Amino acid sequence: AGTLGAAAAQSDRYFGAAISAARLGDEQYTTIANREFTMVTPENEMKLDATQPARGQFNFTAGDRIYNWAVQNGKRVRGHTLLWHAAQPSWLQALSGAALRQAMIDHVNGVVGHYRGKIYAWDVVNEAYADGDSGGRRDSNFQRTGDDWIEAAFRAARAADPAAKLCYNDYNIENWSWTKTQAVYAMVRDFKQRGVPIDCVGLQAHFTSGSPYNASLRTTISSFAALGVDVQITELDIQGAPPQTYAAVVNDCLAVARCTGITVWGVRDQDSWRPGDSPLLFSGADKKPAYDAVLGAL
Ligand code: XIL
Repeated sequence: AGTLGAAAAQSDRYFGAAISAARLGDEQYTTIANREFTMVTPENEMKLDATQPARGQFNFTAGDRIYNWAVQNGKRVRGHTLLWHAAQPSWLQALSGAALRQAMIDHVNGVVGHYRGKIYAWDVVNEAYADGDSGGRRDSNFQRTGDDWIEAAFRAARAADPAAKLCYNDYNIENWSWTKTQAVYAMVRDFKQRGVPIDCVGLQAHFTSGSPYNASLRTTISSFAALGVDVQITELDIQGAPPQTYAAVVNDCLAVARCTGITVWGVRDQDSWRPGDSPLLFSGADKKPAYDAVLGAL
């Protein structure tokens, strides 16, 4: 196969990219994106501040722009993300307690309801666990409404769109030995045991020298899969884009049947949220060595 999407499809997987609505007028960008990728994640356009800038006033203009571009070009969409400590509108940041809990559920209902039947998978909750060795939750306004906020969000999302897969998404949960990985693993195991609706775990995979790729990624993927959830690499970018590391990530996903797809967090280096790291597969219109390594591994 001559493209990432076609190569991934040979094993019934997808290969996606984060797409930015502001770049859809850039022909070099859309040419690459349309040719190479079979799954689209809106980079920012379905986040809380974008979709509900004022309480009860939903705005799907930018989200729909990406959704429509994807579907018109035969691609599926990962919804990203319903509840996150960041990118919150100020009205939401000002709430607490029962009012905030209700606003969370209303937000899930509003966004998932708008896209009902149209989304492959939602990142229902993003980055809810703390870094380091506490093994606990990240402090946030959502967390302060009670430990059960995550399961409440998943139950609301399931009711609002029974067809969408529901994912928990986080970073620094790629290395099996990390405390944060084990904490998320325990949550997913608990959800499966108690019947809380969860279908997938997203490993962001933003690798840097401080947070590097480790071969235990394969154990992490297979361990989550053994709990009965799909696993996806959701935001892959690697500092310096070493070809062998990119190939290793692909091989780790392909080694586990329930690893259903890989998404890179942007198209060209100039599109990256950390362009100084040159972490992606394209430089301008050119395929980088990491691209060839990924295509060869798929
Ligand atoms: C980033 C976007 O790439 C930036 O454009 C934005 O300014 C901040 O968010 N984890 C996530 C993504 O789940 O939503 C983040 O995306 C990167 C880290």
